Amino acid sequence: MNPLIEAVDLSYTYRAGSGKEVQALNGINLQVNRGEILAITGQNGSGKSTLARHFNGLLTPKAGKVLVEGLSVAEKENIPEIRKIVGMVFQNPDNQLISSIVEEDIAFGPENLGLTPAVIRDRVEYALETLGLQDLRSESPNQLSEGQKQLVAIAGVIAMKPRCIVLDEPTAHLDPRGRRGVLDSILHLNREEGITTVLLTHFMNEAVHCNRMIVMDQGVIKMEGSPGEVFRRREQIISLGLDLPVAAQLARGLRSRGIEVPEDIIQTEEIIDCLCRLK
Ligand SMILES: Nc1ncnc2c1ncn2[C@@H]1O[C@H](COP(=O)(O)OP(=O)(O)OP(=O)(O)O)[C@@H](O)[C@H]1O
Ligand SMILES: [Mg+2]
Repeated sequence: MNPLIEAVDLSYTYRAGSGKEVQALNGINLQVNRGEILAITGQNGSGKSTLARHFNGLLTPKAGKVLVEGLSVAEKENIPEIRKIVGMVFQNPDNQLISSIVEEDIAFGPENLGLTPAVIRDRVEYALETLGLQDLRSESPNQLSEGQKQLVAIAGVIAMKPRCIVLDEPTAHLDPRGRRGVLDSILHLNREEGITTVLLTHFMNEAVHCNRMIVMDQGVIKMEGSPGEVFRRREQIISLGLDLPVAAQLARGLRSRGIEVPEDIIQTEEIIDCLCRLK
């Protein structure tokens, strides 16, 4: 089956203020498959955001190509269609929220698509309901918690009914409970609404819930596979500046004390089950 997004030999260089060239991506080959949730991880400056910004044409390749449903992001005339297919959510919701009322904010995207008022209302209802935001519809976004604001930003994107959403560290500013709420919503959108999802994250506990993950380093993809496959390569993960998921660290600690727990544990729920059985 053809992928929804495809990067082929993609390279990108920035020209820094000093005039020096920074090679942010170096020959990336990656496919985002329909229906999957793909995690992109890697330490600061590894090129995650630069890659993601190609997925809806915010950046265009310096070499190679990026295709969204077969449309090249390098062709200006494709950009409006590409932005209907791929929605972007950023780290800081304040940059994405514009209206002083939640439901108006969510309506902003659909309004710009030139939909009829009835369709816009349906889209807003759909987004409010899908993200569980009905009770906040008349609130002002700037009086919400950071986690709630991020959900409103995501609602604004899904109200445009994109086939794919790309989220650039959407939980970076949130506390653990806020992170869990936003992650659960992202997983729901993927699993129940069938939205293809690309999640950029520094949190390995988020990556473990994805179907597939890549680890980037200095503009190159260094690891790729299911979270189980990737986290099995513990030394390599650590050498790339990342941690193991908490459950994997705990399982390892228990094993080193002679307690029998499986080697491939990566999800918190799995280690909890395991500990309950031991007791
Ligand atoms: N606007 C810019 N001008 C010049 N260099 C840039 C610019 N944006 C990013 N870079 C450089 O490109 C490289 C990749 O940056 P990028 O933001 O894609 O990394 P990242 O993996 O998203 O990092 P983080 O985890 O900090 O968000 C880095 O070396 C960075 O310094
Ligand atoms: Mg980034």
